[in-house]
Amino acid sequence: DMGGHDTYMHKEISEQADAVDRVLRGRIDDRFSTVHLGGLNLDAREARGVRRIKILGCGTSYHAGLIGAGLIEELARIPADAEPASEFRYRNPVVDPDTLYVAVSQSGETYDVLAAVQELKRKGARVLGVVNVVGSAIAREADGGMYVHAGPEVCVVSTKCFTNTVVAFALLALHLGRIRDLSVADGKRIIDGLRKLPEQIGRILETEAEIKKLAEVYAGAQSMMFIGRVRGYPVALEASLKLKEISYIHAEAYPASELKHGPLALIEPALPTVAIVPDDDLLEKNRAALEEIKARSGRILAIAHREQERADHTIVVPKNENELDPILMGIPLQLFAYHTALAMGRDIDKPRNLAKSVTVE
Ligand code: F6R
Repeated sequence: DMGGHDTYMHKEISEQADAVDRVLRGRIDDRFSTVHLGGLNLDAREARGVRRIKILGCGTSYHAGLIGAGLIEELARIPADAEPASEFRYRNPVVDPDTLYVAVSQSGETYDVLAAVQELKRKGARVLGVVNVVGSAIAREADGGMYVHAGPEVCVVSTKCFTNTVVAFALLALHLGRIRDLSVADGKRIIDGLRKLPEQIGRILETEAEIKKLAEVYAGAQSMMFIGRVRGYPVALEASLKLKEISYIHAEAYPASELKHGPLALIEPALPTVAIVPDDDLLEKNRAALEEIKARSGRILAIAHREQERADHTIVVPKNENELDPILMGIPLQLFAYHTALAMGRDIDKPRNLAKSVTVE
């Protein structure tokens, strides 16, 4: 049942304020400015013993994991990184007892992720699951974890589950941070930010008509570049994946800082750039990248917290705490990919060559 929407993708994009509300519900502890994550099966002493976190997933879940790793490093100051589960599994990884492994999957059935979990468990590692589908194979195989409560996701491409997974990582990062060195004040600041998300998501969704117009401007492009830095780079990766999956426009994502090391050679009027430009400590650096692109006559669509004068168009999103900005900045780009694909007449819910859950190698 599409509930009045033309596609499941549109329905699922539109459900994100409620979905985020669900992942937060019942978990916030205002007394200690932290969150309760009962299913982790990791007590405070064990959590303090974690020296490194390795996040594994595929596709969009891997991108959510990249943002998650950043959140964990920022809030809990535990070294963290994300890697495609498929690659991890085939490079005979060093499995270290002080590392906490986190497997991320919407379906909980992706074969490469499940196989990585099984291999890790065989080697005695502790593995948590960040999973949407309750009772799925990865959820069952993991030592503990958290459900992301996005609700059923039917469209082949993931949208609301991506957003909820990133919020789930923010909760995990906050929880680990408050067991370690994150102050009460910072814990409270993040909680206040999390509570604002549903309303801010609602406001982004209300700008759909404007995003649709912009999508129609760029829909003729043969190829697009997506750039961002640090928190914004995984947003660029995910937006680029979404665009290619449903519109079949070729897209690349780069850290804005890497442009001058090669991809700047591609910039010309026919290759538009989507730039993630949050109002944070990297704002001036990001603006300098826009300058470099403008100097080569590249067209720019900025996703920012205020109008960017060097960009041809700006989609303005509400500001949250710096750490939580990536959660909101991805949402207009889901709508951008959607309306680009729609303008090109694509079968949005069933893109060619793709399946919802990849249960084979
Ligand atoms: C992208 C997409 C895929 C999945 C990937 C992992 O829109 O849907 O890239 O994210 O196949 O699937 P899960 O999260 O079910 O493990």
